[in-house]
Amino acid sequence: MAAVLWSSTASTLMRRLCVGHRHLPGGHFLPCAPTPPLPYPAAHFDVIYCLSVFTHLDERMQDAWLAELDRILEPGGVLLLTVYSEAATGVLGADGQEMLRDFGFVHKRSSKLRGLLPDWYQTTFHSREYMVRRLSQWFSGIQYFAVPGGEQNVVTARKVPAGVLLL
Ligand SMILES: C[S@@+](CC[C@H](N)C(=O)[O-])C[C@H]1O[C@@H](n2cnc3c(N)ncnc32)[C@H](O)[C@@H]1O
Repeated sequence: MAAVLWSSTASTLMRRLCVGHRHLPGGHFLPCAPTPPLPYPAAHFDVIYCLSVFTHLDERMQDAWLAELDRILEPGGVLLLTVYSEAATGVLGADGQEMLRDFGFVHKRSSKLRGLLPDWYQTTFHSREYMVRRLSQWFSGIQYFAVPGGEQNVVTARKVPAGVLLL
């Protein structure tokens, strides 16, 4: 089966690199706005992956994108995304660590990057429990894979087949 690669990013540089990359012939690289929707019809993809994307978004943006990815994934399709592992949480102070323990989600703003990056695009940490709970609002079959020694872990989920009600 032939795979067709579609990619959307807000980054012009990233898009140019992909278009010119000899290992990615025949890919379609579309620009996208920071907020959904993407220019694809509903149920368009059987697999969507987002490497090191949700490691940056605030919760409002995260949820808006999860809802959008659910829209463009076909029933039974697979979403794969990455989140920071525990090994990466050393940059959080005691308050951040406590928040991660209590709420499972920390969006850490950097004063050094103020004005350079939007407030919604900073550094984000998720607990395993939070990810499973949050993704369950849209998806089923959520699996969390801790990558040994990795800075990021992998989470997979499936679009709920038509006719199944998530409660
Ligand atoms: C750390 S980079 C990772 C890029 C690539 N996935 C990789 O692994 O090398 C984060 C990417 O997320 C994209 N991104 C984050 N938020 C976005 C948004 N709201 N709309 C479009 N792209 C977004 C950025 O443009 C950037 O390309």
